[in-house]
Amino acid sequence: MDNFVFRNPTKLLFGKDQIQALPKEVSRYGKKVLLVYGGGSIKRNGIYDEVIGKLQEMEAEVFELPGVEPNPRLSTVRKGVEICKREGIDFLLAVGGGSTIDCTKAIAAGAKTEADVWDIVMKKEKATDALPLGTILTLAATGSEMNTSSVITNWETKEKHGWGSVFVYPKFSILDPAYTFSVPRDQTVYGIVDIMSHVFEHYFHVTTNAPMQDRFCESILQTMMETAPKLIEHPENYEYREVMMLSSTYALNGMINVGVRGDWATHNLEHAVSAVHDIPHGGGLAILFPNWMKHVLNEGNVARFKQLAVRVFHVETAGKSDEEVALEGIEALRMFWNDIGAPSKLSDYNITADSLELIADKAVAVRPEYGVFKKLNKQDSLEILQASL
Ligand code: NZQ
Ligand code: ZN
Repeated sequence: MDNFVFRNPTKLLFGKDQIQALPKEVSRYGKKVLLVYGGGSIKRNGIYDEVIGKLQEMEAEVFELPGVEPNPRLSTVRKGVEICKREGIDFLLAVGGGSTIDCTKAIAAGAKTEADVWDIVMKKEKATDALPLGTILTLAATGSEMNTSSVITNWETKEKHGWGSVFVYPKFSILDPAYTFSVPRDQTVYGIVDIMSHVFEHYFHVTTNAPMQDRFCESILQTMMETAPKLIEHPENYEYREVMMLSSTYALNGMINVGVRGDWATHNLEHAVSAVHDIPHGGGLAILFPNWMKHVLNEGNVARFKQLAVRVFHVETAGKSDEEVALEGIEALRMFWNDIGAPSKLSDYNITADSLELIADKAVAVRPEYGVFKKLNKQDSLEILQASL
């Protein structure tokens, strides 16, 4: 294992009706609250009214920033920063999925600096402080509710980048699985793919002696494989939603990958795809991940693919080479995602060969090579994208 320091200060309030704790949690930080949310799902499913009711109980002065886009945009972050500075906001409350939470994190950091918030995203400037924020999660996918990460899109320049800071750990996150009953089927599928992809990013590492971390990863993958098909059929089943919600948080809250440096190449490439085409993150990952796996598989790393194939996809090994077992595992993943209705080709989003060069350029815009399990350059990016058409 690599040396590591681990600390995650986010307080989780998990389960039915945890919204009752909202006034107590928020009032620790002040009364001027900026409520950040997306395109209106929380108004349709009643969560907005519940949250406003709770904030009224503590006599909060509520300001609102609606309209956070899926793949949240810098322009919206800037609006939020402006409100915080103008109104002297004490606390930010994100109600939504990863996009709303990521946008809120960027606002929180931007509100406490004179630096341009895009420079923080691009890591030209470091966040040195942030307004406190809390989240009410309505879509299980990104893990943003319990981590330091935020992914922001500059739509004008077609750039999408992740950044992170310990200052933007949510102070608390309210995770009520019933709040995800209304997540549509396609977004539920994208969430499943994103959760599993976070685990894959950890799993494909070159660190030695990390058996417990591997087993943590495999347990989340197996749990998702057992639960996902049932959840797709019964979207309002509390128990399936509860399992998915906890899986999403644990897949990316830093616990299962302590002492291990994960790969993250596929996320980098997907961010380049969605920077150019504004497609859902989980949809992009479903297309790219199996093709990344096939691209990087070689004699030196086949053992890791074989371990995944055997332990998670239960591939029989008798009479087969390691490579055959590994490829069968990758195929089993593709089939699993196909069966739950995930996309498998860029053309499913009308992305054609014309834009691949631009996407590959975006993938290497910050660093000429990326990935830890296997370093990828522009040519590798192009080959994976071509295989994904
Ligand atoms: O905007 P509203 O109207 O709320 O609708 C949203 C949105 O259209 C809808 N939705 C959310 N909760 C719902 C609901 N619809 C009905 N009922 C509910 N309860 O779902 C749509 C997608 O929401 P979004 O927040 O965009 O999805 P997700 O949580 O998948 O977030 C995706 C973003 O997170 C980034 C992605 O790149 C992408 O920008 N990521 C963030 C990470 C992090 N911070 O750690 C890591 C990830 O790898 C990822 O990159
Ligand atoms: Zn992701």
